[in-house]
Amino acid sequence: MLKPVWLQNPWKQNPWFESVAIAQQRARRRLPAPLYAALVAGSERGSTMDDNQAAFAEIGFAPHVAGQQPQRSMTRTVLGHEVSLPVLISPTGVQGVHPDGEVAVAAAATSRGTIMGLSNFASKSVEEVCAVSELTFFQMYWTGERDVMVARMQRAHAAGAKGLIATLDWSFSMGRDWGSPEIPERVDLRAMVRLAPHVVTKPRWLWCYARTGALPDLTAPNLAPSGGGPAPTFFGAYYEWMSTPPPSWEDVAWMRATWAEISGGLPFVLKGICRVDDALRAVDAGVAGISVSNHGGNNLDGTPATIRVLRPIADRVGSQVEVLLDGGIRRGSDVVKALALGARAVMIGRAYLWGLAANGEQGVGNVLDILRGGIDSALLGMGLSSIDELTPELFVIPEGFHQTLGAPEPAPAPGKHGA
Ligand SMILES: Cc1cc2nc3c(=O)[nH]c(=O)nc-3n(C[C@H](O)[C@H](O)[C@H](O)COP(=O)(O)O)c2cc1C
Repeated sequence: MLKPVWLQNPWKQNPWFESVAIAQQRARRRLPAPLYAALVAGSERGSTMDDNQAAFAEIGFAPHVAGQQPQRSMTRTVLGHEVSLPVLISPTGVQGVHPDGEVAVAAAATSRGTIMGLSNFASKSVEEVCAVSELTFFQMYWTGERDVMVARMQRAHAAGAKGLIATLDWSFSMGRDWGSPEIPERVDLRAMVRLAPHVVTKPRWLWCYARTGALPDLTAPNLAPSGGGPAPTFFGAYYEWMSTPPPSWEDVAWMRATWAEISGGLPFVLKGICRVDDALRAVDAGVAGISVSNHGGNNLDGTPATIRVLRPIADRVGSQVEVLLDGGIRRGSDVVKALALGARAVMIGRAYLWGLAANGEQGVGNVLDILRGGIDSALLGMGLSSIDELTPELFVIPEGFHQTLGAPEPAPAPGKHGA
């Protein structure tokens, strides 16, 4: 029931936001500083993180003034599923910033007709998330013994996951020139006292958690032991990951084949590719898709923006596997640029995290709506009736923009040199 006008708060902020940048501003105002910093993430100088966004701005449009198309379509089949826009949720692991976390993100993805990527380090279980999103893709790192990984794949499949995303671009290079947030092992009394100065100045965030009666959960429920027992803390899970020897290409092929056996052939996506030769090796390993990604600038700093390395990769393997891109997507115009350069769809990370922090499930939906609106505007201005008509020639692309990383034919895989 609508409140009488004298009971309405005239200063209440309209929760809707018009751009991802405004969502980020709101997230910054709303979240305790260490949580905001955890979402910013990035590594070392932050140059890859910055370049991911800056590179999109280097590509220009050449819009028409009349003769545009009255109907425009952006539906597409991605990894076997029709999505209503070519934007998927990339898995991210810091969603305890909101009490509903991944469940809120999955609900927004469902209501907007797209795929939900669920992180290995998620704060909600794969069962809870699959219950609200039929299109959940479970993400795994190369962490733990093989039998542990098999058990995790079996659990994800039993929960209803429709695909597996293996993220392999991580080098444990975490130092940041702007400093890293202090994240407690668990939110106990001691941690609360330490965090209190950050939290007391953020009453809306505090209220959001207080209403649920729960404290932020810093455990990783999807990494709990299969025979029962408590979920590891974030740091416990990180330690297991650090102490697991890095995978070989044979391991990647094993993981792909094992998931195929468990799931009856559901798609397997390798996330983190930025070299042409690695893309070719991924094809050899039998993957259904790759994501051209540098982990949002969280892996080796100095790696070029993903949009710069996309075209050479898509030209080489795009006819064999589905090529996705993630990194730096903040607006619909970024999406159409990525599609024109060969991506079948894009994945977003921080954009929806800002939406989640700003306004929960509605905030994530708001972000997807902003991207949808931006894609539609770009198609309108360019005189196109479908995302299928996007080609590089329609854009203003500076000379030297595209960067080919790695040899165009696979060289011996790292670790095999001189063997
Ligand atoms: C805070 C944060 C946590 C992330 N956690 C994961 C993760 O658990 N698994 C994963 O595959 N990628 C993770 N990523 C990378 C994202 O999936 C994605 O590649 C990246 O955010 C894309 O860049 P963007 O944030 O500029 O959109 C994370 C990124 C951020 C910013």
